[in-house]
Amino acid sequence: MTTLLRIDASAQQQDRSLTRMLTTLFTTEFLHANPDAKVIVRDIGQDPVPAIDHRFIHAAFTPPEEREDWMTDRLALSDALIDEVVAADIIVMGAPMYNYGMPAALKGWIDHIARIGRTFSFDLARGDFPIEPILKGKHLVVLSSRGEFGFQPGGPRAHLNALDPAIAACAHYFGVDTANIQTIAIEYQEFKDARHDRSVTAAKDATRALAQQFARSAKQTISHLTDQSRNKDKTMKDFPTHTLDSAPADAKPILQAALKGYGFMPNLYATMAEAPTILEGYTTLSAIFSKTDLSETERQIILMTNNRLNGCKYCMAAHTTLSQMGGVPDDVITALRNDTPIADRKLEALRQFAVVINESRGWPTDAQIEHFLQAGYTRQTVLEVILGTALKTLSNYTNHIAETDLDPAFVANAWPASSAQAAE
Ligand SMILES: Cc1cc2nc3c(=O)[nH]c(=O)nc-3n(C[C@H](O)[C@H](O)[C@H](O)COP(=O)(O)O)c2cc1C
Repeated sequence: MTTLLRIDASAQQQDRSLTRMLTTLFTTEFLHANPDAKVIVRDIGQDPVPAIDHRFIHAAFTPPEEREDWMTDRLALSDALIDEVVAADIIVMGAPMYNYGMPAALKGWIDHIARIGRTFSFDLARGDFPIEPILKGKHLVVLSSRGEFGFQPGGPRAHLNALDPAIAACAHYFGVDTANIQTIAIEYQEFKDARHDRSVTAAKDATRALAQQFARSAKQTISHLTDQSRNKDKTMKDFPTHTLDSAPADAKPILQAALKGYGFMPNLYATMAEAPTILEGYTTLSAIFSKTDLSETERQIILMTNNRLNGCKYCMAAHTTLSQMGGVPDDVITALRNDTPIADRKLEALRQFAVVINESRGWPTDAQIEHFLQAGYTRQTVLEVILGTALKTLSNYTNHIAETDLDPAFVANAWPASSAQAAE
């Protein structure tokens, strides 16, 4: 049986808290798909953990066999909180941004979890890195909300983000390897405009999808939850990265052509090769998409917008590189990576329409189509946006499932979608 530990750190009550809305959604979805799961709820926003003091520190650093009664009493809450973490396979944490960092309640909780002898050991024999975590193999889902926007790496406020890095720095105390942290964040809360509305919708969709994904994994086996290695996860999923030798016969000519064209074998192609049909479908559709009347910049706007919304790290990095090689202006690439408006009015209308097609699952309103046409596009372009969206469905979904590794050629343009600012 899988155990989910739900932590809520918002000082607001349920009806006024976006992070509580997301933790509720995650928990409900998870339980719906996995009714046997156990849920532990720890509401540190409504019932804050007291700050640690000199008595706590004295007690914590006294070996258990030497503790006086008051010390045991002082550590009782910490022990109970740690027991909850020990029992958990997945920790879902509602963590709003307060003054660019974490709420004091969350810091108080972490201070109670980080305990020598219970969640970490300390040994100077290990040289410059004497701390070693004790717990292992857990997953952390951070569901956040911010009043402003652009806190993701590379974003305009990345340098102000003292929340996500602080959680990641302490995650080993909860038995969570940084590769096993997934972050979804609502942004623009203070602006209360259409960008905020879109951010809420995207965060809800991402939260639902993640809960279902965890529930599915939990049903198949929980053994992967007890392994902290991301590569082990990949092995469980067992999607090979083919070579020319190992690939099925029908995939070989396509891989050979890719090798010639790129000068290396992109891991996406090597992964798709497992099913030569999807490889042929993807490469053929790519070639057809480049036959449209759209410029290279316009094509990349459609593709990159889908990559971002679908949270595909591989395709974000790959298409950033391809955009740079294809002469897409730097400011457009930056806007596509950071989900900020493109200065050119017409290109921005295309970006927005690609968002609408993706998020509405192909149900734009008449007003949205009209707005797009008025920006200077045609009914033909409306359908070509669908073509680009379909193309990216093939690659993005493949990468989601296979966890395709970035090729060295794309590493410089890595895009951190797992801290997926469920941007706009
Ligand atoms: C005390 C306080 C401090 C905040 N500080 C920031 C901040 O530094 N940066 C930011 O983008 N938003 C900030 N906000 C906005 C919150 O992140 C935003 O309202 C979020 O939705 C709060 O989460 P909740 O809705 O779950 O309570 C702050 C809000 C409060 C109440």
